Amino acid sequence: MLSDTERRELEDALKHYPDKRSGTIDVLLLVQRRRGWISDESILDIAQFLEMTSEDVDSVATFYNLIFRKPVGRHVAFLCDSISCWIMGYEQVREQLKKQYDIDLGQTTRDGRLTVLPIACLGQCERAPAMMIDQNVYGEVTPDKVETIMEKYK
Ligand code: FES
Repeated sequence: MLSDTERRELEDALKHYPDKRSGTIDVLLLVQRRRGWISDESILDIAQFLEMTSEDVDSVATFYNLIFRKPVGRHVAFLCDSISCWIMGYEQVREQLKKQYDIDLGQTTRDGRLTVLPIACLGQCERAPAMMIDQNVYGEVTPDKVETIMEKYK
């Protein structure tokens, strides 16, 4: 069940939309910000709030890759695996993350610090390879830069 605080926050956010359904992504992001990820229970809460079916809410949640349908770490690194980044060294950056944190794509470190996920083009092709950690985008990432970048994300 949505808390009163969540409900107020969502009602506020929906003021900017012509109808409840149009605000589905914002609602999902707001609930995720509070709860860390979108569980099946959250899908039901949101569906009830938006007066939609849970299947419709789930289809938006699973389509939009910034919505997490499984628990994630305190920080999420999105590694671009589209063509420019692939050509410019995506594999080496991925290998470095794997070596440094003992996790591959889709996994979370044991201490819950970091989850690494693939993402399509981040719009930084001229700075490939690119990755985004939480809301921050990094370009021209090389294996030896990974540790320095990650220092900000404990
Ligand atoms: S292909 Fe990676 S940012 Fe565009």
